[in-house]
Amino acid sequence: MSEAVPWWTNAIFYQIYPRSFADSNGDGVGDLEGVTAHLDHVSELGVDAIWLNPVMVSPMADHGYDVADPRDVDPLFGGLGALERLITEAHARGIRITMDLVPNHTSSAHSWFQAALTAAPGSVERERYIFRDGRGPSGGQERSDPGNDLGGTPPNNWVSVFGGPAWTRVADGQWYLHLFDAEQPDLNWDNPEVFSDLEKTLRFWLDRGVDGFRIDVAHGMAKPPGLPDMSNPDVEMLTLDDHDPRFNHEGVHDIHRGIRSVLDDYPHAVTIGEIWVFDNADFAKYLRPDELHMGFNFRLVRAEFDPADIRGAVENALAAAGLADASPTWTLSNHDVEREVSRYGDGATGLARARAMAMVMLALPGAVFLYNGEELGLPNVDLPDDALQDPVWERSKHTERGRDGCRVPMPWSGAAPPFGFSSNPDTWLPMPPEWSALTVERQLADPDSTLHFFRTILRLRHSHFHFTEFDVEWLQLRDDALAFVSAGVLCVLNTGRTPLELPAGELLAASAPLLEGQLPPDSAAWIVTG
Ligand code: NOJ
Repeated sequence: MSEAVPWWTNAIFYQIYPRSFADSNGDGVGDLEGVTAHLDHVSELGVDAIWLNPVMVSPMADHGYDVADPRDVDPLFGGLGALERLITEAHARGIRITMDLVPNHTSSAHSWFQAALTAAPGSVERERYIFRDGRGPSGGQERSDPGNDLGGTPPNNWVSVFGGPAWTRVADGQWYLHLFDAEQPDLNWDNPEVFSDLEKTLRFWLDRGVDGFRIDVAHGMAKPPGLPDMSNPDVEMLTLDDHDPRFNHEGVHDIHRGIRSVLDDYPHAVTIGEIWVFDNADFAKYLRPDELHMGFNFRLVRAEFDPADIRGAVENALAAAGLADASPTWTLSNHDVEREVSRYGDGATGLARARAMAMVMLALPGAVFLYNGEELGLPNVDLPDDALQDPVWERSKHTERGRDGCRVPMPWSGAAPPFGFSSNPDTWLPMPPEWSALTVERQLADPDSTLHFFRTILRLRHSHFHFTEFDVEWLQLRDDALAFVSAGVLCVLNTGRTPLELPAGELLAASAPLLEGQLPPDSAAWIVTG
């Protein structure tokens, strides 16, 4: 790693889910003025950049991942002016702003899709999406499918990631493809008009001072010719395999080259792809010098709280990024997965392990992505059925509860919901009363809180980890421990049931108080040994 690396190389990103961060106008939904009003929290945490989930104009069928106008901000979030104010205020604090970009699909309310619906099969309007006739001699009219009101057999057996068929039939009998909700029709990336429009979108935001993009479903835009059937239509997102014809088609790389050619006009800006691909060589292709700058590697999210599993995730993520000489990326949670406190067992154990894993992650070279609320140790919330809003709940016919449990609004202050998130008690997702113990206000008053812990370890990462390479040196302390040296700092994680003798050196930080000088179970420490 040379001295003059781009700003994102080892940066800490803080993901803000705008609906759930802070509500400035009392409608119960977070907005961009709310983010601006809480920038001090972000700044004092010590992050380098914000990743904002989508804020473009949207009917919010998938909370902004269904974009109806990619070059404007939804009034729910405060409109374009609110984003411009946020960019100015964040930049004044030295915090960069990256946005979510959704190139795989649009909203069904997008003017293109509305035009496609009223146009004839084979028309230029339909060619912007993936419309097909159904299967069978009469275009699929001969068999009734109880999953679709209009009957018929879809063009192939693809399922939506959110459950149910990936095809919906329109009035004239054709079907359109949607890998996600029916309100999110997939674009036809074989049509050059689709890229021309994306280029306008990229320049629109970059010209307004945005510092880059997280690219949604970056492994999904290109579809294989002939749209062959899936061999395993029961697959779930977190267990996706690399042979799923819906994703990771070779043609996607030309699309990324096109995006990069635009980004190269804005050298300050970064792209980070959402890449659910687990073969290291395939993953690395996305990070070639003329494609994405970085890709989310989700191996740490999948790893159990187990030394071999964690080491495997780290080694593979390093190797995958290394194949392309790109910066590795690390994340433990986001708006799509169960919060790590709950994944690791909930309660005191889950929290202790989440804190320990934060130290493991923040010791690693590369870019780190924190998700709002992680710094408070928020757990997932078990919401009642009638509160659920994720389209997954309906599309899975109430078999999958969806992702709302990790999207509950941030508790800022006070003793009862809505905890300063909003002036409106009717928040878009209900907030658990027991979060009174987890508010920012409460945690600021407690030097041992998770919030203070995060502020400390982020500060120490900036001051003590001078990364010169994308590699770590593994040490073997005990079978139920993980130990590695990174940028001259030893990170030790105790996953066992007994305290662990720490190697000699200066203790920089520990995720839990030491027990007679030893590292307790479910905790981690940073030590300068040199
Ligand atoms: C991935 C996003 O992270 C998720 O929230 C969204 O539902 C899908 N892509 C579809 O856009």
